[in-house]
Amino acid sequence: MKLIGISGSLRKESFNTKMLHAVASCLPEGVTITFISCGDLPLYNTDIDGEKKPESVVQFKNSIAECDGLLFSTPEYNYSIPGLLKNAIDWASRPAYKSVLAGKPVAILSGSKSPVGGARVQSHLRDILSATLSPVVPSPPFLIPQVQSKFDDEGKLVDPASLQRLERYLGEFVDWVACLAKR
Ligand SMILES: Cc1cc2nc3c(=O)[nH]c(=O)nc-3n(C[C@H](O)[C@H](O)[C@H](O)COP(=O)(O)O)c2cc1C
Repeated sequence: MKLIGISGSLRKESFNTKMLHAVASCLPEGVTITFISCGDLPLYNTDIDGEKKPESVVQFKNSIAECDGLLFSTPEYNYSIPGLLKNAIDWASRPAYKSVLAGKPVAILSGSKSPVGGARVQSHLRDILSATLSPVVPSPPFLIPQVQSKFDDEGKLVDPASLQRLERYLGEFVDWVACLAKR
């Protein structure tokens, strides 16, 4: 099973990007994850979304088309998803209803410094993904509140409770993706 991980933060020391690295070390055998950045995508513009698209867009969309499942790991910005991520989803979302995102299984991870761990970004992102016909794993959301206290100095997720929840969430996601693939 091939998964793609996309971080909603460009920050060098991003906790959400570090969370994707924690994912890589928790995955069951036979499941791989590749990280792709949406930092080099231009701002969405229908004028350049024709037959000939920017190369970064082509590569981004191909990576999504070829994967079995997608994980977004994102901070909450002003109660919603970062513009970076919305821009990437807008690019991937065309043609409407027939895009590479249609039917693509998704998991959502969020980490935030607040005590609610990005609960609002979780529901905003779910709403957006309903427009792209991308099903989200039917599990309780995975979020890490007060995320700054859950990693060590090397950027490793070390909080036992978060690690345990992450393993369970990923297990549910992988089982669900495998189930959908059999249909
Ligand atoms: C522009 C901006 C807006 C933010 N808005 C929120 C917010 O609405 N809710 C929240 O929980 N945290 C908010 N934060 C704090 C982020 O959750 C926190 O900085 C987090 O560590 C960023 O994720 P990263 O470490 O992956 O870059 C905001 C941060 C920035 C820079």
